[in-house]
Amino acid sequence: MQDLTGKTILLVISGGIAAYKSLELIRLIRKAGGRVRCILTKGGAQFITPLSVAALSEEPVYEDLFSLKDETEMGHIRLSREADLILVAPASANMIAKMAHGMADSLAAATLLATNKPVMIAPAMNQMMWANPATQANIETLATRGITLIGPTSGDMACGETGLGRMAEPEEILGAVMGFFYQSKPLSGLSALVTSGPTYEPLDPVRFIGNRSSGKQGHAIAASLAAQGADVTLVTGPVSLPDPQGVKTVHVETAVEMLDACRQALPADIAICAAAVSDWSAAAVLSQKIKKRGDRQPPDIKLKENPDILAALAGLATPKRPKLVIGFAAETENLIEAAAEKRRNKGCDWIIANQVGPADDGMEKVFGRDENHVYLITDQTTEEWQKTSKQAIADKLADYIARWFTETRQTQPAPMAAE
Ligand code: PMT
Repeated sequence: MQDLTGKTILLVISGGIAAYKSLELIRLIRKAGGRVRCILTKGGAQFITPLSVAALSEEPVYEDLFSLKDETEMGHIRLSREADLILVAPASANMIAKMAHGMADSLAAATLLATNKPVMIAPAMNQMMWANPATQANIETLATRGITLIGPTSGDMACGETGLGRMAEPEEILGAVMGFFYQSKPLSGLSALVTSGPTYEPLDPVRFIGNRSSGKQGHAIAASLAAQGADVTLVTGPVSLPDPQGVKTVHVETAVEMLDACRQALPADIAICAAAVSDWSAAAVLSQKIKKRGDRQPPDIKLKENPDILAALAGLATPKRPKLVIGFAAETENLIEAAAEKRRNKGCDWIIANQVGPADDGMEKVFGRDENHVYLITDQTTEEWQKTSKQAIADKLADYIARWFTETRQTQPAPMAAE
């Protein structure tokens, strides 16, 4: 039996007579095993009391952006970060307008602006307010940003009019919440291992060999796979990005540590190596800082080759080998030929080629940038993906992977058909 055990829902109750239904909604979510934390707006508090919300949720109720008590107990950032889902019910016309326009003039609005969590809204308002083009434009804006709409429904309203604008019933809202947590996504049931970022190979206690990888591309891929339902482990070298939501993230420094963490993350159905792993490390790491040697020659640093993580994963025997192994190729010249050769040599199924090196503006073309221009190379096709955001590339890759698993019924790796 599916329930909401282990799920935390942040319920934002904004102003409207339908707020009384939110009390029943809290009861239903609790009954289903979920935890409910509530933000009650000033408008919401005109219709129901903080005491009834606190009594039903068995949690403190948060009301004020500038309350010392609320912010020290649980700041608005933490309130949103600790939720699995944010539900705005009722969502008044005013609250919807604030969300659409990015306002942050209340605890509820600021929390919604600061969140990186999925958001669902259950609008409730007079039918004329709902039909107003301003409200409709705001709703459309929110829908294009991925916010899910529950209702409204049609019927008699508290104001005496009849029409579309009633908040969905608590049972229907609970159904939508359940659907959100349990609907099957394209990669549900599959596990994925993603490497990202650079590796740092120490020379002495303070110096290392590293590279310019920011982790943006690899982290975006991990987030996209997780959003599509995969169970994702991200093994990352040192980056300054936050860990992606809903992804198990393992932090490492060196290539050897990365390989070890990857091995521990197996078995996995999908492996994607986006990390810029150093090909070499110091043959001997000195225990003391290497000193300048006056006018003598600089120190001779002997290097040894690092293990190749992509080749190691691709070379595993079935059933240990991930079903689909995808590498990246960062090349400064002969992009397609060099990447295709790398795919064959390392034994991966697909390789994503990107041209690195200085761009026209003097900055690096790919490392650290928000955008990328890549080619997806399989054993049969080469497909160009025009320059776009690294997130868009990650989303497209996740779609291709989902399609590959559907088409091959998770058996043999096979080339993708072009779109
Ligand atoms: O992190 P960003 O700033 O967003 O930049 C993105 C990126 C440029 C790092 C990314 O798009 C990318 O190209 N990653 C691979 C970089 C790289 O090291 O390419 P390579 O051609 O040297 O290696 C080929 C493949 O072998 C890669 O999948 C790499 O992860 C893997 N490899 C390489 C060496 C090694 N010892 N072990 C490996 O697994």
